[in-house]
Amino acid sequence: MKKPMKLLYIGAGYVGTCSAAVSASSGHDVLVYDIDEKKISMLSSGDRDQIEACLFEEGLSDLLVRNQERIKFTLDYRKVVDFLDTCDAIFMCLPTPEIGETGESDLRYYNEAAQQLAENLAKRTAGTQEKYIVIINKSTVPIDMVDKTSEILESMGVKNFGVVSNPEFLVEGKAIQASIKPDRIVVGAWTQKDFEIMRKVYERFYNSPQTKYIEINPKEAAASKLLANYILFNKLAVCFDVVGRTCESFENLQFENVRNALVADPRIGSWGLYNSLYAGGSCLIKDARSLSHQLKYKNQNTTLVDEVYLSNKRQLNNFLSRIDQIIDSNWSNKKVTILGTAFKRDTNDIRNSASIEIMKYLENKSISQINIYDPAGMDNFKKMFGESEKVKYHHHEFEAIKNSDIIIIATDWPQFRGLADVIISELSSKPLIADGRRMLQHRYQDLKDAGFKVIAVGSR
Ligand SMILES: NC(=O)c1ccc[n+]([C@@H]2O[C@H](COP(=O)([O-])OP(=O)(O)OC[C@H]3O[C@@H](n4cnc5c(N)ncnc54)[C@H](O)[C@@H]3O)[C@@H](O)[C@H]2O)c1
Repeated sequence: MKKPMKLLYIGAGYVGTCSAAVSASSGHDVLVYDIDEKKISMLSSGDRDQIEACLFEEGLSDLLVRNQERIKFTLDYRKVVDFLDTCDAIFMCLPTPEIGETGESDLRYYNEAAQQLAENLAKRTAGTQEKYIVIINKSTVPIDMVDKTSEILESMGVKNFGVVSNPEFLVEGKAIQASIKPDRIVVGAWTQKDFEIMRKVYERFYNSPQTKYIEINPKEAAASKLLANYILFNKLAVCFDVVGRTCESFENLQFENVRNALVADPRIGSWGLYNSLYAGGSCLIKDARSLSHQLKYKNQNTTLVDEVYLSNKRQLNNFLSRIDQIIDSNWSNKKVTILGTAFKRDTNDIRNSASIEIMKYLENKSISQINIYDPAGMDNFKKMFGESEKVKYHHHEFEAIKNSDIIIIATDWPQFRGLADVIISELSSKPLIADGRRMLQHRYQDLKDAGFKVIAVGSR
């Protein structure tokens, strides 16, 4: 029988945990290390509810519970040190946020983890470092990071190693499904030896007819991740700021009808042609900013790269100022409901979500109450904004909209699509409906006929 590979994951976030879970289900022996005590305790609990409360990803809790024997989580670095002697590959899954709004990647977490790892790698197998090992950058990192990782390792005396770039292309909300049947795996390495180790890691997908297995060099791999995210962000920006804005500017242009005519052209394609008040999440904004920062450093013109980021901001400001206009800037004593705190449906991730920006906007207004509902992301939101007389959380969308002057739909949770009947029959006070996701687009006319004012992205 073939021996399983021994894989170490550093960082148990969305990327580290989902990727580790799929590796365990592929038959590998996996150890996941993180410094966050609560996270480690919840993820290793073997309890589906606790796992989902920590990381809400469809299929993740099943995979972790089913593969409990093959995947262990730890907070104890001594267990990592023991594991290193026999370990085949180490995945670096650390956060790489941007520093302020500069676009520069904050590599603090990565560097700290790499430094600690290097110190201990140099001591493995009683300092002989007999076993060859690969260190894999799964975090989204600057294009020349492979050189920096090698420098850190060499500076601590680490030998017998390779550095690989294996960017993660997962889509939150579909992370497990997409990792079990990935459309592509990109492996960037300098040597055949490293490619061969990675083929074993991904044996399940190598030569699979469903997965494009792409082998390039580590800088090309890192660049392809940043560029892929920029292109996707660019498509959204075109949809928001050009297609949507056109529909908002002329009479009798229904966004969905225009969209259908556009996506019929396969060169245009359908992805990204939906309208939203903001493209949030942990990646698109950060990665476009990082690409811009790196290009500026190479003295390149970054107008087009930067404009995508700016147009996303413009989209949200435009939406909020339409609300402001319709209420004559009179926010005094208004009750506002925010439906959706997650940056998109099917996740509890609130990083860069539209609702965070809406909360910041509302902070300066003299409103009396903010009602909030989200089926998955409320706990994370509560940690950020707290709960008070003014900021109230509800267990159901019907409860949240009951007592409201303005209802803002900020996340595309499918259940919000069915809200029109309740709004029409129950809300006699006729709150303003501000639909930032076009969830009620099939009922705008009914809402207007019933006396409601409606503002929507992509509608006049
Ligand atoms: N979330 C996504 O959809 C996604 C998709 C593709 C790529 N990425 C990239 O992957 C990387 C990780 O993203 P994420 O969303 O998983 O981040 P995350 O914030 O969810 O997880 C990162 C984890 O690293 C841990 N950590 C920090 N310092 C540590 C240390 N010294 N040792 C061990 N653990 C440490 C944190 O506690 C946290 O649990 C980023 O570079 C991101 O850009 C993310």
